[in-house]
Amino acid sequence: MRFHQKIIVSKMGLDAVLVATTIISIFINEIRTTDVDSKYVIVDGIKVLRADYEAFSRAEEKKKVQDALKKAKEDLMTKEYRLQEEESEEYAKRFPKRCHVCKIFVEELTEVLERNFTKSKSGEFPITTLEFYDAMDETCENMDKYTVTRVNSFRYKKGASLLRKTFEEAQKDSKIKHWSYTTPSDKIDDPTGEIQRLKEKCWRLTEYHGQKNLQRWLKKHQNENILNWFCEDIYLKNNKKGCISKQIWKDDEVKIRDEL
Ligand SMILES: *[C@@H]1O[C@H](CO)[C@@H](O)[C@H](O)[C@H]1NC(C)=O
Repeated sequence: MRFHQKIIVSKMGLDAVLVATTIISIFINEIRTTDVDSKYVIVDGIKVLRADYEAFSRAEEKKKVQDALKKAKEDLMTKEYRLQEEESEEYAKRFPKRCHVCKIFVEELTEVLERNFTKSKSGEFPITTLEFYDAMDETCENMDKYTVTRVNSFRYKKGASLLRKTFEEAQKDSKIKHWSYTTPSDKIDDPTGEIQRLKEKCWRLTEYHGQKNLQRWLKKHQNENILNWFCEDIYLKNNKKGCISKQIWKDDEVKIRDEL
């Protein structure tokens, strides 16, 4: 079991999508299992209750799952999959750039502020310093909701990772009720650690600029666009700013756009 898990994790570090496809193609060709104990079996890296697995093994059930997996595999052969396949882990290490960090920071901060506070008549959030610190904390925590995408011109989108979606798709029509992953959850959502780096850079941004520049914006400059006032003119100064004008897509919006 441990051996199996190790293989999955190290491969995932190299290329999450490839592993997802490998897992799926193994599923399609042959369901391979390893005995764990009397209660569970491992089905290609996913721990399954033996009773569930036995029910599922009956030919009729198997066919349904195979069809669902086949469809999941076809869906994977999308533009997003092909583009991600071309990207190495070394390349991923160059990201996120400062521009990405600031753009997502502002996107999330704005969402947190709008959700929790009502703007005054003059268009400002009436918020105390302490509340602002809470809002910034929440903002950085929310970076977890992002994943890398290669379809859109902005490198990140808000939504589940391709691998997570693949797993979910594979399980959707399955009669197996209890799935748990032998692969750590963070490896499914963030195989190259890029989202973790995004989060760390967000904390650093709030550390360096929270007290001074961001509070200045809060107290005196809320009428200014925070993307221009803070990101472009202060945080990015001499860095590349191209990503600021790009749109950040959310999962469901991407779907809608693809259909257009
Ligand atoms: C915003 O509201 C949510 C609940 O709707 C709460 O959990 C969160 O702590 C609030 N955040 C701030 C910064 O006030």
